[in-house]
Amino acid sequence: MWLVIVYLLFGDAQLVLSTVSDRYENVINERDTLFKKEIDMMLGSDIVLSDSEEKVNEIIIELKHRELDTGLLEPGQFNVSKHFFEYKETIKETNLFKIIKRMPKGAILHAHDIAILSPDYVLGLTYSEKLYVCFEEDDVRFLFSKDIPKDTCGTRWQLLRDARFSSGNVEKFDAELKKYFTIVIDNPEEVYTDINIVWSIFQDYFVRFSGIISYKPVWEKYFYDALKALRDDNIMYLEIRSTLPQLYDLEGNVFDSLATAQSYKDVSDKFVIDYPDFYGVKLIYSPLRLVDYSTVKSYIEIAKNIDNKIPGFLAGFDLVGQEDLGAPIKYFLPQLVEAGKYLKFFFHAGETNWNGMSPDENIFDAIVLGTQRIGHGFALAKHPVLIEEIKKRDIAIEVNVISNAVLGLVKDVRNHPLSSYLAQNLPVVLSCDDPGAWEADPLSHDFYVTFVGVANRHADLKLLKKLALNSLYYSTLKDKDKIIHEFEIRWIRFIDSILKGNY
Ligand SMILES: *[C@@H]1O[C@H](CO)[C@@H](O)[C@H](O)[C@H]1NC(C)=O
Ligand SMILES: [Zn+2]
Repeated sequence: MWLVIVYLLFGDAQLVLSTVSDRYENVINERDTLFKKEIDMMLGSDIVLSDSEEKVNEIIIELKHRELDTGLLEPGQFNVSKHFFEYKETIKETNLFKIIKRMPKGAILHAHDIAILSPDYVLGLTYSEKLYVCFEEDDVRFLFSKDIPKDTCGTRWQLLRDARFSSGNVEKFDAELKKYFTIVIDNPEEVYTDINIVWSIFQDYFVRFSGIISYKPVWEKYFYDALKALRDDNIMYLEIRSTLPQLYDLEGNVFDSLATAQSYKDVSDKFVIDYPDFYGVKLIYSPLRLVDYSTVKSYIEIAKNIDNKIPGFLAGFDLVGQEDLGAPIKYFLPQLVEAGKYLKFFFHAGETNWNGMSPDENIFDAIVLGTQRIGHGFALAKHPVLIEEIKKRDIAIEVNVISNAVLGLVKDVRNHPLSSYLAQNLPVVLSCDDPGAWEADPLSHDFYVTFVGVANRHADLKLLKKLALNSLYYSTLKDKDKIIHEFEIRWIRFIDSILKGNY
């Protein structure tokens, strides 16, 4: 009888145990399945890495994981969750940044022409001959001129060179001057207390700089040097947004927007001759949105004229300026529907934290007008129907993480909606918007911050490669096979050089 009892007890226990262990197995399997499903869904998961790429992947993953795992234990050490101004220099010292810097990154598809280069570069421009300055209370104006300018000035116009050397301390003078060409400050959290404040300071930068940059010889030099900076950041092609301001020269000539577009075309042609490994430039004419319909109508005429006179150079049309305050796209719907017969659109839309308001609802208008890509699309996360639509229509979202952080949409980049766009495999291209204004490299900082601070910990080299490829795939280039083939060659060279320890 004891045997029977022992047998029963033992048998029961085993039954219970085996049931528990089956359930445990099931839970584990289900978890693995769900986990794998999500990993397989994320942007870049379709990329297959070669053996060499796998080795480079191990290197970058180790570097990335070290930062993340330290950050989990000591959040204060996780630099990219802080304000960009705090860490923009220190991250340049990391090996991961150095690798990303060397990485071929494809194209820049969302950048504004006069905010690409650093304030140091702009300060260098103030050493140009015949530049006059007018120091007013808390502001400064510039103008190139043969003689003392006649334009109004609250104080007096003087040659910048004279002002600099009579200041008694050139270094201090230049340091003060440089502050006008950057929005970087020591205490952004105290000064940039709301989005309108940071935008107004940001816009002052453009106004102030216009006297320097719209002098035709400087305009052309700046653009040439901007292309050089892109090339140094391993970028091979650019679609540039410009308001096409009127340029001027010392003879009193003022040139129209067509001439400004032509000067971009000439500079980019010259650049491609000097650096045949660069694939050139296309223009997205992007005038200011805070205007009335008749102005938008005249903008559209300018765009058509550029397209006729400089065939093949114009990628399309956009409207720029702070969306929260500017006119919504729907305000110009009649003009834009008509213009859509001739022009492609690349609208800024949804660069906002609002939900159900005109700036985020711009995304509806952009989509129905047939926009080729969406600039920012920060608010897209709140619009599931639009997410479906952009997937269906394969409309790329041009995401500018650092811009969104600096211009006050998101404080900690871990909360940027891009992390969800990447997880859902939305068509994303990474871009930079105005890197010079916040002293970032053309694209390396955005790639680094996205890789370390925004993307899933498990996202790896496949994501980086996919983002670079997307920037070519979603460009307006006709012969994409050619540029993608060239990209692949450079990519293999990059992989080999990292394996040799060159970073
Ligand atoms: C983070 O910032 C600190 C202080 O600036 C620096 O010492 C450290 O090297 C940085 N860490 C990384 C991984 O960038
Ligand atoms: Zn922009």
